[in-house]
Amino acid sequence: MNTIWSENIQGILNLDLSREMRFRDDRKELFLNLLGLKEGMTIVDIGCGPGTITRKLSKWLDQKSQIIGIDRDSNFINYAKEKAAIQGLNNICYYEGDALKLPLENNSVDSCISHTVIEHVPNREFLLEQKRICRSNGRVNVMYARPDKYIKTETDISLKQCEREKELLDKLFKGTEDIDKKNNIGKYWPDPVGLPKLFEETGFKNVQVDAIAVPIAIDDSRNCYDEKLAMVEAERQQMFEVIEMGLRINNNGLTDKELIELRQLIDIRFDKRISFIKEGISIWDYSILLMQIVSGMVE
Ligand SMILES: C[S@@+](CC[C@H](N)C(=O)[O-])C[C@H]1O[C@@H](n2cnc3c(N)ncnc32)[C@H](O)[C@@H]1O
Repeated sequence: MNTIWSENIQGILNLDLSREMRFRDDRKELFLNLLGLKEGMTIVDIGCGPGTITRKLSKWLDQKSQIIGIDRDSNFINYAKEKAAIQGLNNICYYEGDALKLPLENNSVDSCISHTVIEHVPNREFLLEQKRICRSNGRVNVMYARPDKYIKTETDISLKQCEREKELLDKLFKGTEDIDKKNNIGKYWPDPVGLPKLFEETGFKNVQVDAIAVPIAIDDSRNCYDEKLAMVEAERQQMFEVIEMGLRINNNGLTDKELIELRQLIDIRFDKRISFIKEGISIWDYSILLMQIVSGMVE
């Protein structure tokens, strides 16, 4: 049983809630077109985490499509299985497995996708393994964020952390940096020029480079009142999950008094953001993430 990622790197809620915002239903056509995904296909999401994208694909495509999620973290796979069952999604299945040794036959799927996984695994082996399981004319799509192109607005009234909150968080996570290093987190960031070249070198044809700018803007008028509140609450839950993770890794990182203070500071910050929504005041504290997609077709 492997739970390294979900217990030490990113928790279930952090991934599930943030991906829910990136892969919103109103971006369905955009994603399906760019990824070349169609009804009736067998699609594998490699490093699927808690399965947010697999559930989206299951709903966006018809019942004849088969969606497979693979991740090596048991907590993510168990959560994904449960959530799919609760939502009655019976065209998905999940396997625990290594991205470099996928538990699937040669030439058995129409498309492989992955989102924010390539930077954590040796890129060449990652592509070759997906090429192995794809049928002829199948497509491998690699999605990853470009942290060098991330935009975040600076607003007058914002949800910025105060110095004390930062100080307490730093104290909680002090000495835990080694965990990322030990687990190769972000060790294999693809080079924007090198990745499409690598697709060519590893024998893919019709190599393509695409990108999507993904805004996350609470005040966007397409979000109804309840959605705005839910977005803030999701961020609050993610913050609390980060603290739980910090405590699990570094049990004595904060005194009980400091822990209470940290939780209060977070609550004050998010309560303030909620109060703006309730009063109908927009503050336009949004971010835009650049998601790059490199893909290639199997001969
Ligand atoms: C940043 S998370 C992204 C999860 C998911 N794709 C998403 O966007 O919500 C990276 C995921 O890759 C998984 N992962 C990392 N290395 C892996 C490997 N060698 N085999 C299988 N999964 C792996 C982690 O367990 C984690 O779920």
